[in-house]
Amino acid sequence: MTQRIPLIAGNWKMHGDRARARALLDALKPLSPAQGEVAVCVPYPYLELAQAVLGGSAVAWGAQNVAEWEEGAHTGEVAASMLAEFGCGYVIVGHSERRREASEDDACIARKLAQAIRLDIKPILCIGETLAQRQAGSTHAVLQAQLHGALALLDSTALTRLSIAYEPVWAIGQGQAATPAMVGDVITALRAMFGEAGASVRLLYGGSVSAANCGDFAALAGLDGLLVGGASLRGDEFTAICQRFCTRREGRSLPA
Ligand code: PGA
Repeated sequence: MTQRIPLIAGNWKMHGDRARARALLDALKPLSPAQGEVAVCVPYPYLELAQAVLGGSAVAWGAQNVAEWEEGAHTGEVAASMLAEFGCGYVIVGHSERRREASEDDACIARKLAQAIRLDIKPILCIGETLAQRQAGSTHAVLQAQLHGALALLDSTALTRLSIAYEPVWAIGQGQAATPAMVGDVITALRAMFGEAGASVRLLYGGSVSAANCGDFAALAGLDGLLVGGASLRGDEFTAICQRFCTRREGRSLPA
């Protein structure tokens, strides 16, 4: 049986300022769930601060994006090697906001994943369908195509470091999460798509996760964590999510 350690990751997006970042990092520093990993993905300018505050704690930090190239004349881009210098343990890749706002396609996302893996930074790959795609009944096909494109450059050893966040586009930032039944259906489908080769891949859910609904997701077989946006900007709420998810998750055994 494959043991996958739960992961709760915060995605701060483009919120806050240095003082708020400092206060939030200070609030999260003591977090240490007995059974699980916690990470915060902060804006680039606060990576040094995250490293200074969280270094030596049980909370990891990371970025929300990475360049698809190793180095060179790419104005405005940040290389995986630079993230590594700031001690990033994680990087979010392929978030739907970047797919939409920065026109990232699956081929670009595949190159970004390869860069992260090359520098030993664990990627959190985001996939998810739009409302129109769900209503058209093509959710599974959309996710499969996104996975197929994004994972094109990774070998099976890279899968051991990969987390995939199922984030239905229509549930992000809406205050209305997908139902546990919907998430359970997708997780089962993703596990089947990966089969034995991907038994170590952590599968997360993201989209309007809160302290109130996180326990429902913790009960889902095959789900290993959460990617938390808005609720990760409040120290007490994010702390409650980490503790509740990991405590409930601890009680159940994990299928391979
Ligand atoms: P949300 O964002 O929790 O605010 O819906 C999740 C995400 O976009 O990663």
